[in-house]
Amino acid sequence: MLKQVMIARSRVVVPRFSQFLRVQTIRSITQNGQTYPDEISLDGKTYKTDEWTNVPSYILDLTQRRLHQNPDHPIGILRDLVEQNMKGMGYTFYNDFKPGVTTYQNFDVLGFPQDHVGRSRSDTYYINKDNLLRTHTSAHEHECFRECKTPGYIISADVYRKDEIDRTHYPAFHQMEGARLWSKNSGNLEEIIAKDIEDIPKTNIIVEDPFRENCFSAENPKQDYMTDKEVQLVSTHLKKTVEYLVNQVFEAARKSAKLAGSTEPYLNEPLKIRWVEAYFPWTAPSWEIEVWWKGEWLECCGSGLVRQQVLLNAGLGEDKLGWAFGIGLDRIAMLLFGIPDIRLFWSLDERFSKQFTNGHISTFVPYSKYPGIKRDISFWLPKGVSLHDNEVMEVVRSHAGDLTESVVNIDEFIHPKTGKKSQTYRLNYQSMDRNLTNVHINELHSRVEEDLKKFFDVEIR
Ligand code: DAH
Repeated sequence: MLKQVMIARSRVVVPRFSQFLRVQTIRSITQNGQTYPDEISLDGKTYKTDEWTNVPSYILDLTQRRLHQNPDHPIGILRDLVEQNMKGMGYTFYNDFKPGVTTYQNFDVLGFPQDHVGRSRSDTYYINKDNLLRTHTSAHEHECFRECKTPGYIISADVYRKDEIDRTHYPAFHQMEGARLWSKNSGNLEEIIAKDIEDIPKTNIIVEDPFRENCFSAENPKQDYMTDKEVQLVSTHLKKTVEYLVNQVFEAARKSAKLAGSTEPYLNEPLKIRWVEAYFPWTAPSWEIEVWWKGEWLECCGSGLVRQQVLLNAGLGEDKLGWAFGIGLDRIAMLLFGIPDIRLFWSLDERFSKQFTNGHISTFVPYSKYPGIKRDISFWLPKGVSLHDNEVMEVVRSHAGDLTESVVNIDEFIHPKTGKKSQTYRLNYQSMDRNLTNVHINELHSRVEEDLKKFFDVEIR
């Protein structure tokens, strides 16, 4: 079975940047009892809301933070580190694509089937039926393939997904997308790619790759328009490029940990990675790379050979072939900088931001750890109904914002007699920069209960 992969995600914090967003008159309840304005203005465009709208204003606020463009923020430092290492290798760097894209850009042009789960309103933030907050940087492949004048490109951007909440997941996170093309008409293609492979700097990574020689199979098929040899060469170029990139990042992390005085044994072992087969609608064959780091395999990058239809959709000729990859930046930055909670990336507290400077991978020094306050919530749903975890999380977030440390579904069952479903969630409220009082949390929590009753007709147990 091929792995269906979605790259590292995350969610929660809510600093207010509403001055950037023109919010119109509030109209009455639209979705699940949530209220949305008639129009949403985002990055100079105005969108009419409709029955698909489900993006809360605190998520729109996050779109203005652009952490990857801040040279002194861990996400920006990591982006910069990759770009410095890829300079001169034939890539154009794109860093200012705005997060509002069309469903065409995010899904259709990449060949996502109509019933793909990623399109659902419980997974994706829709501005309206035809526009959404990009769920991945692949949404910009189309325009980059059209415009890019160099053989390859690297896009870095913030992306958005509805998801459950925990220390490594947040509704806004960052990805880096890379791609590289060749033309079948440019002379001896095999020789050219072989030479390009030679030009990738060597690493001494330990690579586990059962698919390096036999890179496609019935399960992970090649495309007919490419010869076996072309598939072999392009995939080797892809994998060596990603291995080089991963090596540079983790070597930098190792160096800085040593400089900071760490003597942990993993710092002296060669870096180990493995390739596993995967599936993405816009690549074939496809793989994912996992990195062995501090005793576990870290999923970090999806990739594959771009489907010809995607290139044709971008107006390129039938002679073009190439690869693409997408890396989640937040989890890697958490490892590199020793950041224990993804919400810290969004902190506006100077005790966080003052710790980081461009070009340096420094280890985060926790400035405080304030205790969390736990509350369980159990309810019966109307008969035949069940509630998506993301909806519960969304209600909690709409009241508690960045105080939502986690929302975990800890139990569910169906009553044998009534046929009604019971769901129980454990909520942990916690602040990064202050102590919370029980009085405050009780008030927030009762508003969460009220909304669950109002919007979903639940009966609190
Ligand atoms: N967009 C994918 C995700 O978010 C990552 C990805 C996988 C990007 C394969 C690619 C690719 O360009 O070829 O999970």
